[in-house]
This record gives sequence, C-alpha cells and structure tokens, in this order.
Amino acid sequence: MPATAILGAQWGDEGKGKAIDQLATFSDWAVRFQGGNNAGHTIVVGETTLKLHLLPSGITNNECKLVLGCGMVIDPWVLDQELEGWYSITKERPEGDRLFISDRASVIFPFHRFYDEADKIIGTTGRGIGPTYRDRTERVGIRFADLKFLLNDKNRLSETAERMNKQLSTVDVKKEITSDDLFSDISWILERFSNSIRNTGKMLHSALEDGDQILLEGAQGSMLDIDQGTYPFVTSSITGRANASHGSGIHPGQISSCYGISKAYTTRVGNGPFPTELSLEEGPGKQMSKLGNEFGTTTGRPRRTGWLDLVALKESQRINGYSGLVITKVDVLGDLDEILYCISYSLDGKEIDFLPTATEELSRCKPIYRSLPGFQSRTSEEWISLANKSRKGQGIEILPDSIRNYLKTIEDFVGVPVVSVGVGPDRLASIASPNGPFDFEIPEATF
Ligand code: IMP
Repeated sequence: MPATAILGAQWGDEGKGKAIDQLATFSDWAVRFQGGNNAGHTIVVGETTLKLHLLPSGITNNECKLVLGCGMVIDPWVLDQELEGWYSITKERPEGDRLFISDRASVIFPFHRFYDEADKIIGTTGRGIGPTYRDRTERVGIRFADLKFLLNDKNRLSETAERMNKQLSTVDVKKEITSDDLFSDISWILERFSNSIRNTGKMLHSALEDGDQILLEGAQGSMLDIDQGTYPFVTSSITGRANASHGSGIHPGQISSCYGISKAYTTRVGNGPFPTELSLEEGPGKQMSKLGNEFGTTTGRPRRTGWLDLVALKESQRINGYSGLVITKVDVLGDLDEILYCISYSLDGKEIDFLPTATEELSRCKPIYRSLPGFQSRTSEEWISLANKSRKGQGIEILPDSIRNYLKTIEDFVGVPVVSVGVGPDRLASIASPNGPFDFEIPEATF
C-alpha cells in the first residue's frame, strides 16, 4: 500500500498524535513533512504520557522507521533533548538506526529563535519556525547537507553571522552571534547527528517500491496553512496533503489515503480570527477548556475554544480531499444541554458559506448555528469499556443516538465518512466505524 497522510483539519491540536500512534501499528515508516517543534503531539499509553515535538508519533512502534522530512525546519538542540527524554524512558537510541534526518531539511539556529521571540503580532510559538522558512525562501538558509561545507568556509561563516546580527538589530534584539558561535554550533550538530543525516526522499521512494507502508504525519492544521489558512495568522509551511508528498520527497500519486483529524469542537492558539469562539470564563467554552485540557503542548498557553465550525472543516476538505474524518474529544462535550455547530456565516447582513480571504472580513463574520441535543457524560473508564466493546463488531453504532446524529451531520455536511471517534486521551479510547481503516484491535505499544 502506498502512503497514508494524517492531517489536522482545523487550527492544529486536533489529536493527530493518537490517530498516528494507532495507525503506526501497521506502518513501516512514519514521516514528518513540514513544520518543526512548533508542533506538539501528546500520546497517552497507560501511565505514560509522551509529549513529542519533533519525533514522529510512529515512534511507539519500535519496528517503525522514522523520518524528519525535507519540508521540515529542525532545531537540533530540541531534537537532542527529545531523544534524551526518549532514551530515559525506553533505553533506545533510534538516531542513525531507525531515525533519519533529511539532508534537505533546514537547521533552526539560536538566531532564528531570538528573532521569532520578538514577534508581537501573530502569537507564534517563538521556536524560530517562521524565520527559518524565511531564510530558506530567501535562499540563505542552512540545510543539514550544507553544514560540513559551511564549517570549513570562514568567509561564509562570518557573512552569515553578520547577516544574523543585522536582522536581530531590526527587531531590537540585543544578542550578538559570532562566527565562532556558528562554528561551534555546527561542529556539535555534526558530531551529534551525522549518523542520521540522509537523502530521505530517496530512501522513502525505495521503501514504497518495496511495498512498505508509510504514514505521513501532518503538524498544525489546514486553517494554519500559509497559503490556504487565515493569513497572516498562520504558520509558515504548507500543512496540507500536497506537501505531505512534497515535504517527504515522494510524489503526490503515492499518497493513497488521507485522513482529516478534527475535534468535535474547535480550538485555536495564538492570534487571529476565530468565528465560533466562546468565552473561556463560563459555559461550554469553559467546559471545553477544562475537560479537554486545552493548553498548548508546546507553549502551555491556554487554547481558545469554540463550537465546531463546519464551514472551515469543509474548506479543509476542499484543500485535502479526505478519505475519512477522525472526530476527536467527543467525550469533552458530555452533559451539555445542546451542541451547536456552525453551518454558515453572516457577513455585513449577508449569509455566506465560505471563509473570506481577508482577515478584516473574516473577523467580522458571525457564525450561524444549528443545534442538536446533548448527551450524558461518562467516566473515562466507561468510555474505554464502551470503546473496547465497540471493537467486537458494532463500531460507531454503539454510541448513543445523539452522538451518532452529530457525527452524521458532520459527515453529510462535509461529504466525507467519519472513520473513528475519540472518546478520551488513552490510545484505547477510540470507537471506529466497522470495517474502516481504524477498525482493529489496538495492540500494546512496543516501546
Ligand atoms: P509558528 O508556527 O510558531 O510560526 O506560529 C504561527 C501560528 O501557528 C501561531 O498562532 C501558533 O500558535 C500556531 N501554531 C503553530 N504550531 C501549532 C500547533 O502545533 N498547534 C496549534 N497551533 C500552532
């Protein structure tokens, strides 16, 4: 089977890590193809909670090879810390053995972080993502393949340091980078990661020719896409299916299926328009925040919460062409009297069924809602037990009518079947549609 893409269908944090962890059971490879450590994937396996920022979530299957693809921007110091954390839990050192870094991926240096930390408009994660992509586009960036050549080129090292210092002064950051700093940073990166830097596009292409199964792990979400999202309040990479192949170094025809992950409601971190936003202080918005533990995995910032925006979800389907939807965190909505979902917007008195491109217009859009009756909440043990029972054949049919109606509404509106429903953070707390891609006994994690 060719490659499968798992993508965020909203503004990120949809619960992609869990879906990837489940599908990784059958995958030979798991590949990150864009972004960097602005992402945060949380995987809960029994008592262990893994928070991953760079390592593909497929790491939980110890047979699965891992790639940080050419579309990524990678902070080697963060990768080092994450690998040390992984080693302390598992005593495994995957680097160079089953973890490979694309030689075409861009390196995030301290300079990029310093520059990004000065952002006061977008509300970035401050991890240096945007400045590193900007350097790439300006064709002054440094890729992993370039490091060994740069090390021996004194002129380029001092030109690079000079350029970095000039840029820092434009955003009033009082930090000085010297060519000696760059020399020692590059020497360390090479010493630490030379065993892992490869032409990973070529590796993945051969793997596909050999019949291997590949999971392409999206980060962020379609509404944060640089081209299709709520610009300028977006991340700096293409988060969609088109880049799942390009950012991995394979071709689009090699992606056979693509699943969109969406919460049963909406969250967003950082600034920018959010038509269905609710108050975090009271009512359903507060419940979503509290029960959904809606705090950024990367920055710890509280996420903004709101009702499900089907207009945005449909746009996301237009961009990515999903084979199925995974609706996560349904349990969080338990005990609400009614569940609202947005089917269109009102803009200056007119009803529209799309997201206006200009932020000025999108921020004036008022959501038009429909509602369905709520459902009774359950404890996490009850949800897991229901999920375990569902895997014996009934699948989604085991859910109460009110939840099934909600899922059916989503399916009909977006025109894509729901293939799995998340009812808690544990990897077992998922209810799949019968005979779908998620309908299998979830085996023990192998780490
Ligand atoms: P950047 O990606 O750090 O440049 O941040 C740009 C915008 O994307 C900010 O609003 C961030 O909060 C948001 N963002 C970046 N990564 C994620 C993510 O993984 N989940 C949710 N929001 C994100």
